Amino acid sequence: MRLRPYTDADRWLTEALETDPEVMRHLGGAAPLARVPKVHERRLAPGGGEWYRTIVSAPDDAPAGVVAVFRSEWGGAEIAELGIMLLPGVRQRHGLAAGAVRLIVEEVRAAGSVPHIHAFIGLDNAAAGVVARRTGFVAAGPCDVDYEGVPIRCEHWVLDLR
Ligand SMILES: CC(C)(COP(=O)(O)OP(=O)(O)OC[C@H]1O[C@@H](n2cnc3c(N)ncnc32)[C@H](O)[C@@H]1OP(=O)(O)O)[C@@H](O)C(=O)NCCC(=O)NCCS
Repeated sequence: MRLRPYTDADRWLTEALETDPEVMRHLGGAAPLARVPKVHERRLAPGGGEWYRTIVSAPDDAPAGVVAVFRSEWGGAEIAELGIMLLPGVRQRHGLAAGAVRLIVEEVRAAGSVPHIHAFIGLDNAAAGVVARRTGFVAAGPCDVDYEGVPIRCEHWVLDLR
């Protein structure tokens, strides 16, 4: 498994992920098709201090998902937030996510500009919670997060890069 920069050729991947009810179950639900261009554009042209990567996996070296560290806001301050999504079916439940998170964390750490990475994971999103703990994130307490207008009770996870 490896990461490569997200490109214009990955538009189908964003559409497949964002509009899938199972992938989006803990992220506010399937997005309407109309939201896809905006999400794709942001991934294509990230701001400074943002990383969007396509996860490519064996055996066919095809895209399996997207992992990102992006600028977000928490408690009135700007933070770096982790997000990861894998295509449903054969790409999930093979331990891909932890490897992808470790790789993007190393990229962010090497940049030297981000002290902490945050993740907000639905309390019933068991797989994502396991991945966060396995990759060194520490639980910082429950909180309520708004995912595209849908309130979700989450655990706030923090990875200290200092
Ligand atoms: C969260 C996600 C990235 C995890 O990726 P993954 O590579 O499938 O995860 P893993 O295979 O490493 O599984 C992690 C653990 O969760 C378990 N698990 C995986 N899918 C599960 C599911 N649907 N329900 C319950 N447990 C699950 C696995 O058994 C594994 O535990 P184990 O190693 O002790 O057996 C993936 O499920 C996904 O894309 N979900 C939809 C998007 C999402 O919710 N992203 C997180 C947003 S913060």
